[in-house]
Amino acid sequence: MCGIVGYVGSQPSSRALDVVMEGLSRLEYRGYDSAGVALVDGDSVFTEKRAGKLANLVSALGSGSAPEAKTAIGHTRWATHGGPTDANAHPHRGGADGKLAVVHNGIIENFHALKNELVQQGVSFTSETDTEVSAHLLSEAFAEARNLTEAMRLVVNRLEGAFTLLAVHADDPDTVVAARRNSPLVVGLGEGENFLGSDVAAFIGHTKHAVELEQDQIVTITPERYSIIGFDGTPAQGKDYEVTWDAAAAEKGGYETFMEKEIHEQPHAVRDTLLGRTDEDGQLILDDMRISEEELAAVDRIYVVACGTASYAGMTAKYAIEHWTRIPVEVSLAHEFRYCDPIVDERTLVVSISQSGETMDTLMAVKHARELGARTLSICNTHGSTIPRESDAVLYTHAGPEIAVASTKAFVAQITACFVLGLYLAQLRGETYADDAKQVMAELHGVPDKLESLLGTMDRVEEIARFMADSRAVLFLGRHVGYPIAMEGALKLKELAYIHAEGFAAGELKHGPIALIEPGQPVFVVVPGPDTPHELHKKVVSNIQEIRARGARTLVIAEEGDEDVVPFADEVIRVPHTSPLLQPLLTVVPLQVFALHLSTAKGLDVDQPRNLAKSVTVE
Ligand code: F6R
Repeated sequence: MCGIVGYVGSQPSSRALDVVMEGLSRLEYRGYDSAGVALVDGDSVFTEKRAGKLANLVSALGSGSAPEAKTAIGHTRWATHGGPTDANAHPHRGGADGKLAVVHNGIIENFHALKNELVQQGVSFTSETDTEVSAHLLSEAFAEARNLTEAMRLVVNRLEGAFTLLAVHADDPDTVVAARRNSPLVVGLGEGENFLGSDVAAFIGHTKHAVELEQDQIVTITPERYSIIGFDGTPAQGKDYEVTWDAAAAEKGGYETFMEKEIHEQPHAVRDTLLGRTDEDGQLILDDMRISEEELAAVDRIYVVACGTASYAGMTAKYAIEHWTRIPVEVSLAHEFRYCDPIVDERTLVVSISQSGETMDTLMAVKHARELGARTLSICNTHGSTIPRESDAVLYTHAGPEIAVASTKAFVAQITACFVLGLYLAQLRGETYADDAKQVMAELHGVPDKLESLLGTMDRVEEIARFMADSRAVLFLGRHVGYPIAMEGALKLKELAYIHAEGFAAGELKHGPIALIEPGQPVFVVVPGPDTPHELHKKVVSNIQEIRARGARTLVIAEEGDEDVVPFADEVIRVPHTSPLLQPLLTVVPLQVFALHLSTAKGLDVDQPRNLAKSVTVE
């Protein structure tokens, strides 16, 4: 939610603008309602900003009006306070002298009170944003302190809410100062130049050497150095690390869209998430465990907290974790968790699942869980992000950067990581009723090859999507682990193709939703493999017959060799055989591909669907 970039180098040149624009293009997935830049230009600050996508800013700058500079900041916005207009786009200037500019990600919750105070002092505002308050406060504080870092420290202590703020001032020209509270910020270290970004993608084209900050810290960068202090002024150290992926991983690599590329990276995402998870005796090992084995072995209840696609990964995992460990697992949407008076104590493990590690709803659920005394474990795809830092333990997924707003490869990596966690817990508890962990791991290791072959058979799904481009509603049915996949299929279609779509538990159909079936209504059905226990396969085949009898057009996702579905299917989409619990890793793929191609057929923006942002850092 909003992308921010900062740069400071030693020579005035077009590099400052180029670096910031390149960073913004890599961060545009975080928000794309408007974009802007500020460059320190002699004793003033030049700004340019435009509503709409980054391309609008690029054309506005096309006339070559921007000055050469050493210091620059930039922003790409997902609007919260104030609509997506030129005036509300960042940067915002503070003070009457035009010497200071800020960009901001987050929400300043007490901005009304602060704005009233400033208005009474005669300050006039040019936007409806909460951010502009911080710009005026910073300008006033700078006039007093004559030092941008100290000015930032004075101001952040007056702000409530979540924010990353970046500021430049013409009287402190070789400096960018940034502050963070509950909002992402990383530093990139170069040779004679330094960088700031919402995430490392902002500067990955220039350096892989990054520094992670804690909450409530201020960082000051100049061309040669960086320094960190807490909001109370105490000097602090950042944590250095090397980014393990390169700029190519954040580019499209020959695919039309990031989403298409990321769908094809799913075999890698599963493979890499499984890497290094077993020792030479075949025992499972996890990274970053700061909970003792005794504490974990004593866990008697698990909550999974997550939002959207990540919550469907959690729902899928519930079946496996309960089966392997016999620990009750409850999946709660993170934004509901705090308000449902959860039954949590020190024997509860709260597992958060988040690709970005920055989703505010999930972060707040984790904090609440900790306050209630729970142990917290984060399954996350982004190193150094906030949620893992706030958790007692971390299990990183290794899906690589996910740029498309709609999550795909992170989803399969999240399910994989949940399986690893479930097997680990079962191993710790020495459960005898669990499936053999070694066997499950061996089967999981076989999933990437199955994904590869499945991805090679998606032409027909692409065709079906094209034919269905004018559909008004599509339904999705599944049972057992197919149920969350039905919901994920529906979510992908809603967000990418703006089509009304709903996922149901197939058994629920006769309790109401079957009334929606009319002749021609397309319905995807995720069919469990024939060896799924409890005759689930047979039951779903009956569900297909029930809707077919009422005129539904049935698009059936079934295992290779499952002939029972053929008489009742208008289309059969085949997936390779796996054991039932692992099926979601495969059955989700045709649904992702379908949504991608239907969106493309409608001429929509696959990577940046309307109204959405990749990382939702407001509640
Ligand atoms: C949908 C999608 C979202 C995210 C959700 C959580 O395609 O991507 O539903 O899954 O916003 O995001 P993270 O995983 O970053 O916490």
